[in-house]
Amino acid sequence: MDVARLREDFPVLRREFHGHPLAYLDSAATSQKPNAVIEAVSEFYREHNANVHRGVYALSEEATDLYEGARERVARFLHAGDPSEIVFTRGTTESLNLLSHALVRSGRIGRGERVLTTVLDHHSNIVPWQLQQTYSGIGLDFVDIDEDGRVGGEAFEAALTPATRVATFAHVSNVLGTVLPVAELAERAHGKGALAIVDAAQSAPHRPIDVGALGVDFLAFSGHKVLGPTGIGVLWGRGELLAELPPFMGGGEMIREVHQDGVRFREPPARFEAGTPPIAEAVGLRAALDYLEGVGWEELMAHERSLTEHTLRVARERFGDRLRIYGPPPGPDRDAIFSFTLEGAHPHDVASLLDADGVAIRSGHHCAQPLMERLGVPALSRASAYLYTLPEEIDRMMASLGRVEELFRPRGTTARTPSPV
Ligand SMILES: Cc1ncc(COP(=O)(O)O)c(C=O)c1O
Repeated sequence: MDVARLREDFPVLRREFHGHPLAYLDSAATSQKPNAVIEAVSEFYREHNANVHRGVYALSEEATDLYEGARERVARFLHAGDPSEIVFTRGTTESLNLLSHALVRSGRIGRGERVLTTVLDHHSNIVPWQLQQTYSGIGLDFVDIDEDGRVGGEAFEAALTPATRVATFAHVSNVLGTVLPVAELAERAHGKGALAIVDAAQSAPHRPIDVGALGVDFLAFSGHKVLGPTGIGVLWGRGELLAELPPFMGGGEMIREVHQDGVRFREPPARFEAGTPPIAEAVGLRAALDYLEGVGWEELMAHERSLTEHTLRVARERFGDRLRIYGPPPGPDRDAIFSFTLEGAHPHDVASLLDADGVAIRSGHHCAQPLMERLGVPALSRASAYLYTLPEEIDRMMASLGRVEELFRPRGTTARTPSPV
């Protein structure tokens, strides 16, 4: 994969900050956008803009075809059985809120019954269930991680109770980079009579997804993390399950008929898409998936694997135990997300000082406070890579971390080992 060539497709990567070229190491928060996506969105507004499903005139039909074409593209991306299983939402967060709400309303889970999630999950796969805990009396359990930050099948099985109706977990941790064994966890959940939901926000950008092979019942991801626009996400559900769920929001588009004394809803996916949907965003998402799959999964995954090995090796050689990177060692269950602490420096200071060198990383709790508590840290710094990340950018981060370390070195102590980078 010619990363230098590919980077030319991403205009923002040409920018400079504080006199340095941008080293964008925050793709787990949101990915940068290639020209193909930017162009597809502008072209939609320039040439095809109209509301969908409503007009009988040609322009509206064109917009509808583009919107529904995007749905077909997402169905292919997920290897879903039918485009009607694809619900467009605003993002993973909305997908999971929709689902938690609809599952309770449908009676699939109710008072005294339980949801199982994991301690590494993102708030968007915890808080919607906590809301249902408060308002509907369901229970919420957490599977723990092991010392390397993995969720093992046996620990998961042990946490499933006879009252567990739903098991919901991240495919990839946005903090630890751990890849969870989704197919195994789904099988174990089904074995105990629970539905299996997977939050693919951090996996869909980095690996092919086949919902059939994963064996899950529902899956959610966000457009903005897969090179697409903000404001669009996906909820995929098995057709027969979506058909039994009631709507999340009410309004236009999702109804068959409305009278003063009642309402009848449309079939999925329309039932779950109240109001004007994110049309231009769907068109942009389609362009993003075309771009991503055009690069090729094998090349992309090999590139990210080598970045992971490079990062962990350089960190160890240069800083030893002073730089603690959380999560599993390099391997098939470890993605290119590096959350760390640098001895003697607060994560927020680290991120601010790196910014002065043009290196963009994130610090904080990463919307995973239960995980921070489990790890016994208030916050972590996090660097994350994607298909356009260069090893040189990782090296710049390491050099910058070396300078941070010097800055925070207590007076009178000797300088650290000089960097091999
Ligand atoms: C694992 C995971 N789940 C869910 C989300 C929420 O995604 P969004 O903010 O796009 O709804 C994120 C975002 O960082 C995430 O990393």
